[in-house]
This record gives sequence, structure tokens and C-alpha cells, in this order.
Amino acid sequence: MIATVTMNPSLDQHVVVVNLVLDESNRWISYRREPGGKGINVSRVVCELGGDTTAYGFVGGFHGDLLKTILKQKNVPCDFTSIKGETRSNFIITDLKSHRQTRISAPGPEIADGELKKLTVKINSIKPKPKYMVFAGSVPPGVPVDIYKKIIEKTKSLGIMAVLDSADQWLKEGVAANPDIIKPNVREAQALLGVELKTEEDIIYAVKTIVSSGIKVAAISRGRDGMIIADKTMVLKVVPPDVQVMSTVGAGDSSVAGLVLKLSQGGSLEEASRLAVAAGTAATLTSGTELCHKADVEWLLPQVMVEKLLF
Ligand SMILES: Nc1ncnc2c1ncn2[C@@H]1O[C@H](COP(=O)(O)OP(=O)(O)OP(=O)(O)O)[C@@H](O)[C@H]1O
Ligand SMILES: [Mg+2]
Repeated sequence: MIATVTMNPSLDQHVVVVNLVLDESNRWISYRREPGGKGINVSRVVCELGGDTTAYGFVGGFHGDLLKTILKQKNVPCDFTSIKGETRSNFIITDLKSHRQTRISAPGPEIADGELKKLTVKINSIKPKPKYMVFAGSVPPGVPVDIYKKIIEKTKSLGIMAVLDSADQWLKEGVAANPDIIKPNVREAQALLGVELKTEEDIIYAVKTIVSSGIKVAAISRGRDGMIIADKTMVLKVVPPDVQVMSTVGAGDSSVAGLVLKLSQGGSLEEASRLAVAAGTAATLTSGTELCHKADVEWLLPQVMVEKLLF
């Protein structure tokens, strides 16, 4: 089973307008509410691809109830920890005329010490023990910045493979616990390593650096160029075919889902990175906050190029 932990989920509200005019009253032509949050996205994609997963994390208030209801409708198993605060709601506006997508994100509710304790006790006692636990996304106010480090140390001590997909200070602090897998994008990897990653050689050097620091698998995703991924034995360059992109929202989360799902099934790094890139690219074929469809992943899979680079 792949457990995912989303500390700061959201109820994403997505509107599409024909031509957004600032300072005017605009009308939407479509409105969708989707469960948001990186770990939840990973669980949704694992489900879509036929894997076994449960989403953990904090939810509260009216938005939290709605989020659980929508996940239930989508048959995504979840076992959240209730909080007193209200789960945040993020807004996404797609403007058809300019092809621009504007995102307005909320910081999230304050988490009390007791609530954090409840979540950690819960995820440390999941039965049967999950094979992988994915920690993804930002951390809400009130939660210590080194939370991922602490939880990942515990996860690893329980014999569960820990995956971290976060950014900024949460990624920086979290890598100190040597998670088994990290998947930053180029921007996040630059911030983590404190260097510019301009060329392919720079990225190859970066994944090798991360692996030699003690992390088993380092994948740096690079949008339309796919990803560069390494473990102790190899570096792979994984490139998707050209596609007509609708929206890149959730592409990275979809690639984490593909990667972890295949590895949890005993697949090789090559097979896992192929599924990762196929799932990420499949997510770009759907509009707004919608994630990948299994049928798209299946036709993309044989078209993903995997090249083994000299180590
Ligand atoms: N423009 C694109 N064309 C084709 N595939 C894409 C494109 N953008 C993203 N992808 C696919 O999605 C994967 C992850 O993309 P990206 O590097 O943008 O992740 P991310 O920045 O972590 O995304 P997220 O915002 O979901 O966290 C890529 O490896 C690739 O497979
Ligand atoms: Mg990402």
C-alpha cells in the first residue's frame, strides 16, 4: 500500500472565463471543485492507475467535509485527522482568451500541537504497514518547519520507504533525514542545492550529488523535457513525446505517483521512471486541476524515451 500524507490539503475551486477583465464583473462558463493538495493528488493518480493507496492528512470544517465527500465519490480511500480549523480553499482562474491560468493560494489553517500528535500517531500505526509513504506539499501554520525530517526519520525506522516532494524550507529540512526518494522540479532542486541548474549536465551533476548525500533515488523533473533520475548505480534521462498541453497542474504529483507505484510493484528504476514521465505528461492533457487518465498513460508509455547515461 502507498500511504500519502498531505499536511495542507485544499478544496480547489476552478473557474473558466472567456476573457478575464480586471476591475469588471466577469462570468464563469465552467466551475469545478476538486480535492487539492499534493499527497491527495498522488493518491488519486495511484488509484486511477489501479494501485492500492490511502490518503492521510489534516481536514477540518465545511471545506474539509466537502473534500472527504468528493474523494469518496471518486473512490479514493482516505483516513484524515480532524482539526478545529477550516481546510483552505485555493482558487484557479483559467482565461481562455489569454490562455493564462491564475492561482490564488491560501496559507491554510493553524494546526494545534495535539492535532499534529494525533496525525503522527495515526500514520505511525497504519496496519498493515504501507510499503511507501509519500509526504508532499507545503506545511500549514503552527507546524514546525522540520516536521518532515522528524516524521521521515520515524517512517524509515519502521521500515517504510519515505518519499518527499516538497519545496523551500520544508524540502531543505526534510532531506536531512535522507528520505528514500525525492522529486524536486528544477527550481526546487536549485533552491535545495543553492546552485543554478542551467544545462542538462548541471542537472545530471545535481542528481548525482543528491544520491551521494545518502538519498537512494533522486529525480529532478523538468517539465516538457521529462526528468533526470539517478540511484547509486545509474543515471537515466527520461523524455516524453511532444503533446498538446492543456494544463500542467498536478503533473509533478502524477509523476511521483507513477514512480512510486511502479517501484512498489517491484519494477526497475527504468520502468518506474517511464511510468512517472508518462503519468506526468498524461496529466498535461487534461484541463484545469484534472489529473491524468489511465488510457492516456497507456498510449504514452511506449513513446517515452529512456536513455541510460554514463555514471
Ligand atoms: N509541457 C509539458 N509537456 C510534456 N510533459 C510535461 C510538460 N510539463 C510537465 N510534463 C510532465 O510532467 C512531469 C512533471 O512536470 P514538472 O517538472 O512540471 O513537475 P512539477 O513542477 O513538480 O509540477 P507540480 O506543479 O505538479 O508540482 C514531467 O516530468 C513531464 O513528464
Ligand atoms: Mg512538484
